[in-house]
Amino acid sequence: MSTGEPILKINNIEVKYHEVILVIKGFSIEVPNGGIVALLGANGAGKSTTLKAISGLLNHEDGKVTDGSIEFMGVRIDRMKAEKIAKMGIVQVIEGRKVFEHLTVEENLKVGAHMRKKNGRDIKDSLEMVYHYFPRLREKRTETAGFISGGEQQMTVVGRALMTTPKLILLDEPSMGLAPLLIHEIFDIVTRLNKEENISILLVEQNAKLALSIAPYAYVMENGRVVMDDTSEKLRENPDIKDFYLGLTDVGGRKNFRDVKHYKRRKRWIT
Ligand SMILES: Nc1ncnc2c1ncn2[C@@H]1O[C@H](COP(=O)(O)OP(=O)(O)OP(=O)(O)O)[C@@H](O)[C@H]1O
Ligand SMILES: [Mg+2]
Repeated sequence: MSTGEPILKINNIEVKYHEVILVIKGFSIEVPNGGIVALLGANGAGKSTTLKAISGLLNHEDGKVTDGSIEFMGVRIDRMKAEKIAKMGIVQVIEGRKVFEHLTVEENLKVGAHMRKKNGRDIKDSLEMVYHYFPRLREKRTETAGFISGGEQQMTVVGRALMTTPKLILLDEPSMGLAPLLIHEIFDIVTRLNKEENISILLVEQNAKLALSIAPYAYVMENGRVVMDDTSEKLRENPDIKDFYLGLTDVGGRKNFRDVKHYKRRKRWIT
């Protein structure tokens, strides 16, 4: 699945908001070229901040990578503007499936194409590609995005990301608030996009079971640091992961594992 240099390398970064709020420190992860990697962690661990640091969206929130580096296909991107990073082939699907509610589904998708300044022919091809993977969106293409279901909205934002013909998609909690059947439908499509279109994926998920089932490798973060990383196969067998993620966070529920006494006893694995 993965050959050669990783497509994304985060080397020992530190991230601050408003120059003083230190949120991420000594943080390093890699995404293999053509791979899927999951990033797990509790509320406020810094998962979304990590994705924003990669996509450059951090700048829009007065956040900054203040130490370390981020490399995409061997090029340093941590000082680049979001627009330039997007042009290089990274797209972030932000948390909370934000569609443009007053636009139709198809208009929402076309917004993605504009980010890459595509011509008419390219836009048509990209739309066909999105409709190929999301036949439901073809059916709904003339409907107002504000009125379609939550699952369809999530498909629309993933579709919009696809319209940029990305090399790497940063997916932030795509399963949040969706029914299990829909979650599986969306994750099947994500897996196909990875395999058939060779798009690398960095997946942030609250649903660890699901994330570990589609990503062969995962990192666990806590308080802005990686506290554990391993193959999903190994992580599924890890007692800490079992307790804090697999046992407690089944589809739909999220428990803050600071509430779990057992966790405190075992906190030694956080170095
Ligand atoms: N714009 C901001 N300004 C200041 N602090 C922020 C900002 N955004 C996030 N933070 C803080 O940074 C920390 C990490 O937040 P982040 O949203 O990255 O966590 P997360 O792992 O994505 O959490 P969740 O699972 O709730 O989405 C939190 O303490 C949060 O309060
Ligand atoms: Mg988040």
